Amino acid sequence: MRELDEHSITAEVIDRFAGGTDPRLRTVLTSLVRHVHDFVRDVELTEAEWVTAVQYLTRTGQMCDDARQEFILLSDVFGVSTLVDAINNRPAPGATQSTVLGPFFVEAAPPAEQGVNIDPGDSKGGVPLYVDVSVTDPAGLPIGGAIVDVWHSDAEGFYDVQRDTTALARRARFITTQDGGLRFWTTMPASYPIPDDGPVGQLLNATGRHPWRPAHVHFMIQAEGFRQLVTHVFVDGDQYLDSDAVFGVKEMLIDGFPEQPPGTAPDGSVQAAPWHLLRYRFGLTPVSPG
Ligand code: BEZ
Ligand code: FE
Repeated sequence: MRELDEHSITAEVIDRFAGGTDPRLRTVLTSLVRHVHDFVRDVELTEAEWVTAVQYLTRTGQMCDDARQEFILLSDVFGVSTLVDAINNRPAPGATQSTVLGPFFVEAAPPAEQGVNIDPGDSKGGVPLYVDVSVTDPAGLPIGGAIVDVWHSDAEGFYDVQRDTTALARRARFITTQDGGLRFWTTMPASYPIPDDGPVGQLLNATGRHPWRPAHVHFMIQAEGFRQLVTHVFVDGDQYLDSDAVFGVKEMLIDGFPEQPPGTAPDGSVQAAPWHLLRYRFGLTPVSPG
């Protein structure tokens, strides 16, 4: 067709994309064109707005480098990362829900022995946290030998990789014991703002949104025969639980991290000051047969 109007153009664009051999690509592009064209018609996008959008996406790309992925952050604040995660990681009944990975995961976290303190510098103002968690199947049967990556912010809301040092801290890779257990010391995490000094921060600012995430500890758990679980445990009572900047909170992922009085901790150590305890069971989803 030669002459296209504001309505007939949609079918023509979809048709032009139909020539490839990849059926999934065709499905995705057909839906994308339909939704983008509907969106442009719906809001009657002005030329000035189109230029603004192009410039915004250009700045978003220019903000990206090896250490900063502004497009993923943009996906995060649109709720798209959480939506993609929800669709792709539906838990089995009895299994734990997943949530977003975030930008602060480090592939080569140092392996650690159980029982150690992964925040040996006891980050400034940090209150000790004893983590005593287990990894099980959906029915609660223990999974020994699971690989568990842990990472979280310090008491001021910064990850090690955001500090002016190359030293990794408050992150480690553990292996669960035969009873599926994992125990270690660290310090309580704090709520923190997502990186907001770029286009994503401008968008949040322009729309009256704050950049904060409620305090949490990240876990990534891998075990043979089970799907990888990427999740967090959030600290109950945090003021940002109902307005997480990246929409990652789920009710079952909230725990009280109860404060404990000075005295003997579960590992037999004597604590001179109050400390906190995280007890939690992670249920993994079996890999579906076939
Ligand atoms: C995080 O929890 O580390 C995180 C997740 C999404 C965006 C920024 C940070
Ligand atoms: Fe985080």
